[in-house]
Amino acid sequence: MALLRAAFSSLLFSSAFALVQDLDDTFKDSRMEDVWLVDFYAPWCGYCKKLEPVWQEVGAELSRSGSPVRVGKMDATAYSGVASDFGVRGYPTIKLLKGDLAYNYKGPRTKDDIIEFANRVAGPAVRSLPSRQMFEHVLKRHSVCFLYVGGESPLKEKYTEVASELIVYTYFFSASEDVLPESVALHELPSVIVFKDGSYFTYDEYEDGSLSSWVNRERFQSYLPIDGFTLYELGDTGKLVAIAVTDEKDPTERSGRLKGLIQRVAAEHRDQFNRDFQFGHMDGNGYINSLIMGEVSVPSIIILNTSNEQYFLPAEPVEDLEQLLRFFSSVLDGSAPAFGGDGIFRKIKRVVYDARSTVMSVFRSSPLLGCFLFGLPLGVISLMCYGICTAESDDDTELMKRDSFTDEEEEGEEEEQPQLTAGAEGEEDEDGEKIQQKSTTEKKVD
Ligand SMILES: *[C@@H]1O[C@H](CO)[C@@H](O)[C@H](O)[C@H]1NC(C)=O
Repeated sequence: MALLRAAFSSLLFSSAFALVQDLDDTFKDSRMEDVWLVDFYAPWCGYCKKLEPVWQEVGAELSRSGSPVRVGKMDATAYSGVASDFGVRGYPTIKLLKGDLAYNYKGPRTKDDIIEFANRVAGPAVRSLPSRQMFEHVLKRHSVCFLYVGGESPLKEKYTEVASELIVYTYFFSASEDVLPESVALHELPSVIVFKDGSYFTYDEYEDGSLSSWVNRERFQSYLPIDGFTLYELGDTGKLVAIAVTDEKDPTERSGRLKGLIQRVAAEHRDQFNRDFQFGHMDGNGYINSLIMGEVSVPSIIILNTSNEQYFLPAEPVEDLEQLLRFFSSVLDGSAPAFGGDGIFRKIKRVVYDARSTVMSVFRSSPLLGCFLFGLPLGVISLMCYGICTAESDDDTELMKRDSFTDEEEEGEEEEQPQLTAGAEGEEDEDGEKIQQKSTTEKKVD
């Protein structure tokens, strides 16, 4: 009996390695009956290699928990046709494919985060909460919680539609009125409410615009710690992001004071600023500096417009709430000077900056490949230069030949550049250097 159990568990164990399926170009036709979580990777990409063991764990865990989600990986360079049909542009790209819908995963590449995403997106778009107990349980677990209250209605249809698209970001629930505690007083039914920041807010069609834009604006706590990933996600809300740049290890209270001031604006001046601002703090200025390609001091306050990469700095160090409120208002009414932006000069600067970090990241993730990619052309060029310089040069035809040589070489070099940048796109995403609004849900085209 023990022997049998041992044999059985070793069978289970060995099958754990096959829980991630290697996909090929037949995948497009065979995938429709199932929900698939797929890692599109490139064999040479460093971040893909880092994801590989995590991906095996994701496969094992989802299968162990009895999830209907099937896990696969596809070499996007070998099956580039299939990959581009799924809209894969960088590596690694993680997508959940559910019927005609394809959902992009943009969060941190850890087992728990990926599994949470898979379970959330694979499940129903709107989850119903049958009891007060369930409601309270859910409220405890989620810092931001959208809830539809009422029976069938056009609003519910709209809510379901919005949920099936924005489920990539957050959970959507529904309940009947008697599930809510007495402290929640609704003016009318049906209603859509969001619970967050220790309170709740009701969607108002006339004031808040479309339901999807409201959900998009409200899906974060008004104040939160911000890192590269969060900032990238916050960009999709279209809000300005007000950040206290702090040093968490700083023992003096200056950093803490700026955080406190921003928190007070978020909590006490919600009506005035919540629609346009997202608030938070970020530890250290390294990330911000690379983003604005400049220097901000620590501690300080900066407001970023992620849609056009402009930023605002207070004219003088912020000392009190009044000053901070004035700064926020001046950004809104356009009287504060904007820095950065995506003008033509800025774009050139960005290209240079990106090219430099691309080269750096290729070298960092794989020095051999870096030497090959950049060293080989350089070597060829120097050999040619050497050849040209040492050749006899008293003949005109010889000169012409040389000219054509150098031209060809330059063209060859220019072609290399975009290829490299495209290949490293996923890696730049990881660094979060690009803040671009990519639509996260895309209707799949078959
Ligand atoms: C932020 O950028 C968007 C897009 O360019 C622009 O429409 C908006 O006015 C900017 N906001 C501020 C406060 O400058």
